[in-house]
Amino acid sequence: MKRRSAIKAITLMAGAKVLNPFQYPIEYSMTRRVIPSSGELLPVLGIGTWQTFDVGQDQDKKKELTSVLKKMNEMGGAVIDSSPMYGKSEEVVGDLTNQLSFSDEFFYATKVWTTGKQSGINQMKRSFELMRRKTMDLMQIHNLVDWEVHMKTLKEWKEEGKIRYWGITHYTNASHKSLATIIRKENPDFVQFNYAINDRHAEDHLLGVAKDHGTAVIINRPFGGGGLFSWARNKLLPEWCKDHEIHSWAQFFLKYIIAHPAVTCVIPGTGKLEHAIDNLKAGYKVTEGQEFQKKLLATFNSL
Ligand SMILES: NC(=O)c1ccc[n+]([C@@H]2O[C@H](COP(=O)([O-])OP(=O)(O)OC[C@H]3O[C@@H](n4cnc5c(N)ncnc54)[C@H](OP(=O)(O)O)[C@@H]3O)[C@@H](O)[C@H]2O)c1
Repeated sequence: MKRRSAIKAITLMAGAKVLNPFQYPIEYSMTRRVIPSSGELLPVLGIGTWQTFDVGQDQDKKKELTSVLKKMNEMGGAVIDSSPMYGKSEEVVGDLTNQLSFSDEFFYATKVWTTGKQSGINQMKRSFELMRRKTMDLMQIHNLVDWEVHMKTLKEWKEEGKIRYWGITHYTNASHKSLATIIRKENPDFVQFNYAINDRHAEDHLLGVAKDHGTAVIINRPFGGGGLFSWARNKLLPEWCKDHEIHSWAQFFLKYIIAHPAVTCVIPGTGKLEHAIDNLKAGYKVTEGQEFQKKLLATFNSL
C-alpha cells in the first residue's frame, strides 16, 4: 500500500496524472488554438445553435440545453455560435447562459444578417439584448449579406470595444473565392466556412489563405449537416482509431478537421447532451498534420 502511495506521489510530481479543474487527466484537457490577431487561445471545440437551440419555451429541451452548456464549460469548450437567422436561438442562449454563474467564460459569437447600415445596427443591438451581452466576443457577417456596409460598422464597433473580433461567414464552396478575397483585402479576425471529410474544397481554396493571413478559422457543418452519420450507419470504426482517442464516428469526422493546422475552432450543431460530450471529446488528444488526415481519409474512402 505504502509503495503504491509512493509511486502515486512520484507520478503526481511528474505531472502525468494530475487532474485539471475539469476533473479529467491533464492529457485529456481541451486543445486550444491561437487567434492570430490577438494571441488569445480558443478551445478547438465549440457548439453551433442552428435549429438545435431554436426551442422557444420548451422546458424539457431548455433543461437539456442547460446540461449541454454546463458540460461544454466543464470539458473546456467555449464558443457558442448563433445568428438572428436561427429563430429563437439567440434568445435561448441568452436565457440559459444568464442563469449560469460562469456565463462570462463562454465565447459568444453571432452574426448580422440583413441589408442596410441602420438595419444592421438595429439587428446587432437586438442580438446583444437577446444574448444578454454587454460586449460580443465575435460579430460575423452572415453569408456575406451586404458585407461592405456592415464591415464598416464592425470595424468601428471593434475600435469602440463593443465587439472583440469581427468576421465573415458562409457555408457553400461557391463562396470560398469571395471569402479568400475579403481575407486578403480586409483582414477580418475570423472567417467561418464549411469543411468536412467529404467536403474538402476549402483545403485547396481557403484554409491556406486564412493561415497565411493570420485569420482565425471557425468550421461550420463539420458533419455536412448530419449527412455523414447516414454514411456511417452500420459501419465499424477500425481498431487503430482507439490509439488516437477516436471512439465514435463523430470523433473521427471532427478529428479530421482539427488535424488541419489552419483550423482554430469547430462548431458542430447539437442540442443533445450525449452528442455534445461525444463531440467535445474530439478536442482531447489531438493529432495534427497531413499524414494523419491522409490516414483518416484513406479509411473513409475505403468503407
Ligand atoms: N452561414 C453560416 O454562417 C452557417 C451555415 C451553416 C451552419 N452554421 C453554424 O454551424 C453550426 C454547425 O452546422 P450544422 O448544425 O448545420 O451541421 P453539422 O454540425 O454538420 O450537423 C448537425 C447534425 O449532426 C447531428 N449530430 C451532432 N453531433 C452528433 C453526434 N455526436 N452523433 C450523432 N449525430 C450528431 C445533429 O443531430 P442532433 O441534434 O441529434 O445531435 C445534427 O443533425 C450551426 O449550428 C451553425 O451555428 C453557420
